[in-house]
Amino acid sequence: MVKSIFFTGATGYVGGAALQQILGDKSFKITALVRNADKAKKLNELGIATIVGSLADENLVAKAASEADIVFNVADCDNEAIMSSFLKGMKQRFQKTGEAPILLHTSGSAIVMDGEVGMKDSEEIWPDNDVARLNKLPSTALHRNVDLMVFAADEEGYIKSYIVCPPTIWGSVTGPLADAGILHKHSIQIPYAVQASIAREQGGVVGEGKNIWPHVNVHEVADLFALVLRGAISGTVRHGREGYFFAENGEYRVIDAARAYTKTLYELGKSATAEPTSFTNEEIVKYFGGPFLGSNCRIRAVLGRQLGWKPVKTTEDFIASIPEATKAVVSGL
Ligand SMILES: NC(=O)c1ccc[n+]([C@@H]2O[C@H](COP(=O)([O-])OP(=O)(O)OC[C@H]3O[C@@H](n4cnc5c(N)ncnc54)[C@H](OP(=O)(O)O)[C@@H]3O)[C@@H](O)[C@H]2O)c1
Repeated sequence: MVKSIFFTGATGYVGGAALQQILGDKSFKITALVRNADKAKKLNELGIATIVGSLADENLVAKAASEADIVFNVADCDNEAIMSSFLKGMKQRFQKTGEAPILLHTSGSAIVMDGEVGMKDSEEIWPDNDVARLNKLPSTALHRNVDLMVFAADEEGYIKSYIVCPPTIWGSVTGPLADAGILHKHSIQIPYAVQASIAREQGGVVGEGKNIWPHVNVHEVADLFALVLRGAISGTVRHGREGYFFAENGEYRVIDAARAYTKTLYELGKSATAEPTSFTNEEIVKYFGGPFLGSNCRIRAVLGRQLGWKPVKTTEDFIASIPEATKAVVSGL
């Protein structure tokens, strides 16, 4: 049976990659909400119906959500108002059909980051199958506000929820949406540090970069979204608090990433030296609003692998991708 999907974030880095993964699957009828009318037209040419509008339009979003079997949200993991609009529409659908629609939402692994400032690593590791421990995370943890709204709706029974929770995502997106110029090709976290480094004309790192973060390639996280989606439809994966999928395939010490982009910046004449120096406290506040990039965030993607997810891109691949990502920031791509 064909399932209707209301998709958000189609023009984004992660969402575009995830959408490409299910493009052409005749068992889905996809409608994407996009802000840009030209990109909407290009999506139509690829067989995707579109609604031109903003997620800030509560009535528009609730109506679109009420008309879909599945809401697939890769747009904004922190916005409670947007989540309220989805849930409002999904509740209406449940009341009408008696069947709980599926919500596939995106969160971020910063939910488990610590308060370290780049001066040491941590032994604290969070596997996604340790649901009891994850349940104890404070409601103040980053992204948790929206995750808790999702769990509450699932527990009420009017949706079945699944959350994919990635860390540092890397790699440039290739494929039909990228070729058509529809999606953002590059990620957030490393470019964020690169932009700050360019601004201070010297590659930077928070503290000494001794902290550890996980990573995942963008196409491989897209594979995980598709697996979870199909498992949700077939009813073979758990939902709610047990349907919370971390996505990682290895970890990196932040200094190693900083060395890679600083070397490239130096070669491009954008860093005074080839070795990163510590951002000052003022720079940390100015560029990042806090020392988030100095935290430890250690997760394990157990549930995805149990589902058959097989990411192959390694930490070496991630580090090797940084010069290209850095050049993309410098050239404004
Ligand atoms: N990239 C990472 O490393 C990473 C890691 C973990 C979690 N995440 C989370 O994954 C989500 C997507 O991240 P991303 O890297 O793909 O970001 P992105 O490239 O900036 O994409 C964001 C997408 O959301 C759309 N969007 C945002 N606000 C909207 C609004 N008001 N109305 C309609 N569309 C709106 C954007 O549309 P426009 O094209 O019109 O701007 C774009 O399609 C975010 O919630 C992010 O926090 C990302």
